Amino acid sequence: MKDGGCRVGSIYSLSTEGDVVVSEQQVRDQWGTRLGFVLAAIGSAVGLGNIWRFSYMAYSNGGGAFLIPYLFALFTAGIPLMILEFALGHKLRGSAPLAFARLGRRWEWLGWWPVVLSFILVVYYMVIIAWSFNYLIFSFTQPWGQEPAGFFINDFLRLTGSPWDFGSFRWPIVATIIGIWVLNFVIIYSGIEKGIERANKIFMPLLAVLVIIITVRGLTLPGALSGLNYYLQPDFSALLDARVWVAAYGQIFFTLSLGFGAMIIYSSYLPEKSDLVNNAFITSLTNCSFSFLVGMGVFGILGYMAEAQQMPFEQVVDKSIMLAFAVFPKAINTLPTFNVFFGILFFGSLVLAGISSSVSLVETVAGALMDKFNLSRPAAVTGTSLFAMILSLGFAFGNSLMVLDIVDHFINNYGIAVTGLLECIVLGWFFRLDEFKEYVNRISDFSVGSWWIWSIKIITPFVLGIMSIQNLLGDLSHAYGDYPVSALLVLGVLVVLVSIAAALALTTRPWRENWLLKPTGSEE
Ligand code: TRP
Repeated sequence: MKDGGCRVGSIYSLSTEGDVVVSEQQVRDQWGTRLGFVLAAIGSAVGLGNIWRFSYMAYSNGGGAFLIPYLFALFTAGIPLMILEFALGHKLRGSAPLAFARLGRRWEWLGWWPVVLSFILVVYYMVIIAWSFNYLIFSFTQPWGQEPAGFFINDFLRLTGSPWDFGSFRWPIVATIIGIWVLNFVIIYSGIEKGIERANKIFMPLLAVLVIIITVRGLTLPGALSGLNYYLQPDFSALLDARVWVAAYGQIFFTLSLGFGAMIIYSSYLPEKSDLVNNAFITSLTNCSFSFLVGMGVFGILGYMAEAQQMPFEQVVDKSIMLAFAVFPKAINTLPTFNVFFGILFFGSLVLAGISSSVSLVETVAGALMDKFNLSRPAAVTGTSLFAMILSLGFAFGNSLMVLDIVDHFINNYGIAVTGLLECIVLGWFFRLDEFKEYVNRISDFSVGSWWIWSIKIITPFVLGIMSIQNLLGDLSHAYGDYPVSALLVLGVLVVLVSIAAALALTTRPWRENWLLKPTGSEE
């Protein structure tokens, strides 16, 4: 700061006296307020996954007892890794590739891989938000009738029998995919403070209100308590099952948006003096409380539905996507009053939660391109969005659900787990993690202790390692989802291999001169 010469990429350059000349590209965007950053980080974490994935995971992995491994995973892996990603982005002032390249060029690919995975994730994540938007519109007239599952599969998706059978192009889905992409584009195009921060300041409080109404309503319906019982009744024997623990860690990584580089780029836009530890705690705890709350509402409503239809609870609940698009419409049918209103609330929350996450995914990609190729925001955001939107349109055919399921399985199981694992190993064992700890503690109100070091060096890599091996063995022993092996090889294995190749290719491109110098304040 005292010398302006090589403060490339540093946000400080601007705050010095007038004699420092900084070209425009070297100025990093910044959040307007701390609240804005925290809301954006929460917005990234709270997503589609919180609304259907958590409650179903809890239900099928020991009910209330699942909370024990879940909270354990939150404190031993989730929060520590969140602090690490915040520290990485903040200390090295860059997107994942820039941050890793500043640590050493040979680690740069480790920054690009998550960026490529984010790109793939956002391509199909947007498709699910688009479906939610279709359903938001459907809520007014409820065309799903008495058989919402059949409606979803046969009328809405026109699902074919195999991933290779494309079936028909679904124009109503094309329309919403484009609509959601345009909205997403406008937000990111408008910049960090004026776009992403402002959108989250509107979306997050609104989402909280919607979810509170859903939960209060869910819990006051007759039969709600029996639903809650299924959701929360502890089956402690589940705790002896290693798979339940692995599922809890997997859920924590997914729900906190870790291992994708999103938290790294968001924290790179923080001002110099920022309380990283507190922000990581606030983000993680808010995200998990949100999941828990939604779960109460959803299961309350399911309990009511089981009672109203006199069906056993096990038969009304379904997993993942079907919970949102088949079970919930059915629940909306059976509600005594305000059915339209509840449809709007539920699908509206999916859309809001989804967009605040997809925005962070696109920013991860566009921000990385801006850092490396000196692109302007308009160019990077337009290019990324346009390319990804065209790929999203590939999901408007009758095979979408199957393709999405396969790609998602491989991206999540081999993407997050392995990038998270490498992140911990490289930073924990090849660099002095103590330096990160000191850095974080110097700028945060309350300090992290040696538990943090242990978590990054030992616990998290250990669990992620087991998770990866378990996933690999599972996939080798039987074809995932009983899909044709050709589809698994092309849409799963090949997509993962291509993502690695793309990361390596991007790594080989040169950086601008001086760009990799570490920013001020990060050396001590
Ligand atoms: N956390 C998001 C959810 O719960 C999903 C997600 C995973 C994500 N990794 C991400 C979102 C990275 C943004 C960035 O739905």
